[in-house]
Amino acid sequence: MGRRLSGKKIAKEIFARIKEDIELKKITPKLVILFIGNDPAAEYYVQNLEKKGLKVGIIVETLILPESIDQSSLLGKIDILNNNSEVNGIMLQKPLPAKLDESEIVMKINPQKDVDAFHPINMGNLVLDKEGFIPATPAAVLELLSYYEIETSGKHIVIVGRSDIVGKPMANLLLRKNKTGNATVTICHSRTKDLAYHTKQADILIAAIGKPQFIKPEMINENAIIIDVGVNQIEDAEKGYRYVGDVDYSGCFDKAAAITPVPGGIGTITTSVLLNNVLFAYNLQNKID
Ligand SMILES: NC(=O)c1ccc[n+]([C@@H]2O[C@H](COP(=O)([O-])OP(=O)(O)OC[C@H]3O[C@@H](n4cnc5c(N)ncnc54)[C@H](OP(=O)(O)O)[C@@H]3O)[C@@H](O)[C@H]2O)c1
Repeated sequence: MGRRLSGKKIAKEIFARIKEDIELKKITPKLVILFIGNDPAAEYYVQNLEKKGLKVGIIVETLILPESIDQSSLLGKIDILNNNSEVNGIMLQKPLPAKLDESEIVMKINPQKDVDAFHPINMGNLVLDKEGFIPATPAAVLELLSYYEIETSGKHIVIVGRSDIVGKPMANLLLRKNKTGNATVTICHSRTKDLAYHTKQADILIAAIGKPQFIKPEMINENAIIIDVGVNQIEDAEKGYRYVGDVDYSGCFDKAAAITPVPGGIGTITTSVLLNNVLFAYNLQNKID
């Protein structure tokens, strides 16, 4: 019988900690989101950040930029934000239009304001196990593992997806020599042969693929713990659309030992961790412990 690993309580606790810290220090951290395009999953995430930011005392401002924006104008906007001491965090909402050079844009963001931890300095710190920003989604997975006291040491964790945002940092974090690390990690991707062979080996399976309900019950091991990072919008006869993960939740529920829902799982925690990164950025820039 499966167990539902909800993210709601975890997010609530993290939001409460942020709010308490902000009130105690009487500070007003600020995040600016650069939003280009109209990706529905990205819109959902940003709207949530705005709402939650308001509740905990973090100003979340979204700059909606036209899809026609060119590289130098965008770099110019980042420059202004880098030099504005009232802005503590800068977030570049992806996906970006293909004509833009994403790596140059990411490099432009001041690493101390890079709350998504995309800058090579922050990525390097993560790989080298140095203190710094941790990308929100993998950090949310760690929060969940920690909250439900899921042992990772010596466990075989299979990650499906090798993106810079999720798969790669996730693997590095799980290899750390700490409480939520010490795992044996396998990363799979679209060129992996016989994907189901690998996913079936997993004590813990992390799906970050971007394909609705892609992981089926026959692809998982009995008693595996399934962590679904995916957020996919699909058509719904009643509501028009709804969100599902990368895992066939109802199909896998009984076979798995435990499974995260979508919505209400990792995505819920991600928002709280991202706002925590804004608070971390504020503290870093103002040399507060
Ligand atoms: N919950 C959250 O907070 C959060 C945050 C970020 C993203 N997400 C969601 O997580 C999912 C992944 O996001 P992402 O940004 O990491 O996506 P991405 O950059 O598109 O990466 C997807 C990964 O999945 C792999 N993949 C695609 N099809 C596959 C297949 N048939 N078999 C095996 N691997 C396959 C790709 O392999 P290749 O590298 O070979 O192409 C790639 O590594 C999406 O649903 C996204 O919406 C959620």
